[in-house]
Amino acid sequence: MAKVAPSILAADFSRLGEDIRDVCGRGIDYLHIDIMDGMFVPNISFGPDVMKSLNGIASVPYDVHLMINAPDRYIEKFITDNTEFITVHYEACDDLAYTLKHIRSAGAKAGVSIKPGTAPEVLDDHLKDIDLILVMSVEPGFGGQKFMDSCLDKIAYYKMKREELGLGYVIEVDGGVGSANAHLVRDAGVDIIVAGSAVFKAADRTAEVEGIRG
Ligand code: DX5
Ligand code: ZN
Repeated sequence: MAKVAPSILAADFSRLGEDIRDVCGRGIDYLHIDIMDGMFVPNISFGPDVMKSLNGIASVPYDVHLMINAPDRYIEKFITDNTEFITVHYEACDDLAYTLKHIRSAGAKAGVSIKPGTAPEVLDDHLKDIDLILVMSVEPGFGGQKFMDSCLDKIAYYKMKREELGLGYVIEVDGGVGSANAHLVRDAGVDIIVAGSAVFKAADRTAEVEGIRG
């Protein structure tokens, strides 16, 4: 069984509060908050004020995915009572060790994400300082893309390293996952599955969440 983190990027923004209230009542574990700056990725999503407007509505913790350059500038802005994880991109950090410490000292758990073209070994020197590893299974920037199975070996790699080193980070996957293919990432050893379109566009959201969880 995996945990399920619907990405609110796929919600109906014209009725965001209602959509979030609805999805929080369907047995989900986190809300995945996709923040895009139009620089690190070629898309702009929304900022911390939109996220904070959900604080009185959301009944699960936030899993914040920062797809932004120089993320140290914005970490504090995304820390709220609802924030559990802040995840930055390896490719967007000049000094990852510093940024990981920054996230933890600001009061959140520290996550790092790698893009599909990034080798998993780049995090080897940081593993003991990481609370969550987010393996991208699409190029970051847009919801609704096709799942790339290059993530599977990376998930297995981080699972193996966790056992070998006796560490406690969780492994998450993001992009193109739904109930039809979630078994692939579960079998590889993932702990948390992000799903945007699959959950928000489902005819039966509860069944979709259960199908993803396994
Ligand atoms: C992509 C985002 C994902 C995306 C997932 O840049 O990080 O979280 O919203 O959406 P789906 O599940 O539709 O691929
Ligand atoms: Zn994401």
